[in-house]
Amino acid sequence: MRRSFRKTFPSAVRGEGVYVWDTDGKCYLDFSGSAAVNFIGHGVQEIATAMAAQAKQLEFVHSSQFTTPVAEEYAQELLDFAGRNFAGGRVYFTSGGSEAIETSLKMARQYQVEIGQSSRYQVVSRGQSYHGSTLGALTVSGNKRRREMYLPMVREFAHVAFPYCYRCAYDCTDGCRNCGQEYAADLEKAIKAANGQAAAFIFEPVSGATLGAVVPPPGYLQSVAEICRRQGVLLIADEVMTGMGRTGRNFAVEHWDIAPDILVAAKGLSSGYSPLGAVLVTKKVADAIAEGSGAFLHGFTYNCHPISLAAGRAVLKVLRREDLVGAADDQRAGSAAALLKTSLETLRERAAVGDVRGIGLLWGVEFVADKASKKPFAPELNFAGRVGQAAAKRGLMVYPMQGCVDGVAGDHLLIAPPAVITSEEIGWAVKQLGEAIEEAAAQPA
Ligand SMILES: Cc1ncc(COP(=O)(O)O)c(C=O)c1O
Repeated sequence: MRRSFRKTFPSAVRGEGVYVWDTDGKCYLDFSGSAAVNFIGHGVQEIATAMAAQAKQLEFVHSSQFTTPVAEEYAQELLDFAGRNFAGGRVYFTSGGSEAIETSLKMARQYQVEIGQSSRYQVVSRGQSYHGSTLGALTVSGNKRRREMYLPMVREFAHVAFPYCYRCAYDCTDGCRNCGQEYAADLEKAIKAANGQAAAFIFEPVSGATLGAVVPPPGYLQSVAEICRRQGVLLIADEVMTGMGRTGRNFAVEHWDIAPDILVAAKGLSSGYSPLGAVLVTKKVADAIAEGSGAFLHGFTYNCHPISLAAGRAVLKVLRREDLVGAADDQRAGSAAALLKTSLETLRERAAVGDVRGIGLLWGVEFVADKASKKPFAPELNFAGRVGQAAAKRGLMVYPMQGCVDGVAGDHLLIAPPAVITSEEIGWAVKQLGEAIEEAAAQPA
């Protein structure tokens, strides 16, 4: 079953660098890294070689019976990549983001039980967020469209608002510097209202697909981290989209110098070469389980899959050798991210573009029917989808989304190219995107 019965999908057969080809020989520039997945570029042969070598040697063992050298070595490399905060920590490998989020939620619950806080089970999260499509992940997600139908099947915990400066509820003029503290205070209220039952708070450091790369104001995440500490609530950073260099740091939390207890990675972790997710836990969390009941009550048949781990490990090697985190740093002169930022900013001249925001190689372009009032397009127009189609016609792949205003209205695109994108490719892509926006705007309402 394809994602849509109505849409026709080109059939992809080959990838190289920032390009993907379909069966008709048409070439597409992958300006969104699929869905912010591909970071090192398509078709890197050494990843395929590493996967094949692992498959020839040992394709699979079950994690209840064996560990493997690739799991042990790669886990340590990831902990090192995550920095000081994860020294002495542990890594739990999964087959993707949603599984990793489920794992993190259960890990937080078990941690609280192990330290004698068994009344704590709720996970507070943010509205307008996305943490995955399994039922536990949907519980903490705030993406209205993706969860609405399944609401009778999920537990409801508190969702708090967060600073989305272009449409700030406080109508501020300082880039949400002050009101960021109001939003953080709302979290403390929600934790207190949970009456001793809050186990964790989960958040995307930079909002992903749901809001389109909204970057928090200075001070906000630091306050959030401090509140969680004070309230005995674990801090779970969902870096499925922002991790592994995407924002110009190894992990996005480094921009604000905060130290989560649990960090979730996927997407860029294997750059799409194999299904892979990882949950990094600090020594504090791992020790509580190790010295308590001694076993994490959780598991998937395919966690720690050797071939996926070989892919992830080879990706990390490429990412380091080519300094792709540096390429994704928009503060570094001449980097791919700096060029992308400057180029995307030119889209503001278009009548239908209300906001251009983001960090590193993760950007959002929000569309409006009226610039002065920021009035969104009518949702049934599917303006972002129209732009996406007009772009695909021109050989440009972007990631259109709706609902950024209130969960239903609001159109935006996510732009997240592989870090190997060149200045010429950025220039071409932004030119095509500009034309696609004009084509969508010229279509009848
Ligand atoms: C922030 C975030 N968390 C979790 C997920 C779920 O990951 P997956 O689609 O690999 O299950 C996604 C996917 O888009 C995501 O962006």
